[in-house]
Amino acid sequence: MGVVYWSARPLVPGTGVHLLLCGMCLKFDGETRNVALRGKSSQSSTYAGSGPECALDGSLNSWTHTNDQTNPWWRVDLLKVYRVNRVTITNRPSLGSRINGAVIRIGNFLDIYSNTICGVISTLGNSATATFSCGGMVGRYMVVHIPGSRKTLSLVEAGVYGTLAGNRAIGGASIQSSTSADWIAEKAIDGNRGLQQLRTGCSSTLNETNPWWRLDLHDVYRVSEVVVTNRKDCCAEQINGAEIHIGNSLENNGINNPICAVIPDIPAGESNNYSCDGLDGRYMIIHIPGDWKILTLCEVEVYGYLAGNSLL
Ligand SMILES: *[C@@H]1O[C@H](CO)[C@@H](O)[C@H](O)[C@H]1NC(C)=O
Ligand SMILES: *[C@@H]1O[C@H](CO)[C@@H](O)[C@H](O)[C@H]1NC(C)=O
Repeated sequence: MGVVYWSARPLVPGTGVHLLLCGMCLKFDGETRNVALRGKSSQSSTYAGSGPECALDGSLNSWTHTNDQTNPWWRVDLLKVYRVNRVTITNRPSLGSRINGAVIRIGNFLDIYSNTICGVISTLGNSATATFSCGGMVGRYMVVHIPGSRKTLSLVEAGVYGTLAGNRAIGGASIQSSTSADWIAEKAIDGNRGLQQLRTGCSSTLNETNPWWRLDLHDVYRVSEVVVTNRKDCCAEQINGAEIHIGNSLENNGINNPICAVIPDIPAGESNNYSCDGLDGRYMIIHIPGDWKILTLCEVEVYGYLAGNSLL
């Protein structure tokens, strides 16, 4: 834990309420705050109303319960990408051996098996809590699943402890001026740079005048850099001349916000890094001015801090 500063002057004058300032709260938080509590849970099936949220309700008297099925799973979407230090799992008070063989994974994929294994529960006693060290694995999802047929997954509580990872784009809302086939806007922030999947991992507009792609970060960030990954399959030159804008205005689809950078070119399949030092904004817009342009993005990453709070 970092240095803790205690102000001499009361926060509210005339009272004993002091302002507590921490030098390294972020690191401290990562150790103590269960970030799963702010997430959204789901599971493969639900038996007798024992829904996925029962693992995040802080109560030892309720637990999740899937049907007896093949490969049951429980997942929490942390809504942002975290660097996960550890996961805790509390087992049900009876029939605890049902959890034997459960696998804990962290990653950015809805496909369970694409995520990285943090730990495997060989056995866990009734009502026992086990802690698994994930060593800073990066991901938006924590999944617990039991491979095999005729399995039932129950969790009394699940905890995920970690710190926000650098890329703020994940979990934002994306939209683009038009969409070519299934190259939807969200594919530019799906957490992977799209190169393994060639076609399916990227967003793309149609061939049009002034195509744009916009990201709503939900909060105002002081953006330090933006990383853009170009398509690999063909036509890498289509990105040439794209402008990156950052700001709080939606005027002209956000294109009137200040420019962070103009992309001269990006080699096919590569990721380039643009410094936006000092620009604050809730919206990030990528726009190609001109006629007969196609905007394709295989991944857009945004790095920075919440504006006005350099600790978070
Ligand atoms: C962007 O480039 C800078 C300077 O080379 C480097 O320090 C930084 O790590 C890069 N950021 C990312 C996300 O690649
Ligand atoms: C975009 O449309 C124009 C006009 O039809 C056409 O000339 C151009 O080749 C198209 N560009 C691409 C990459 O398809």
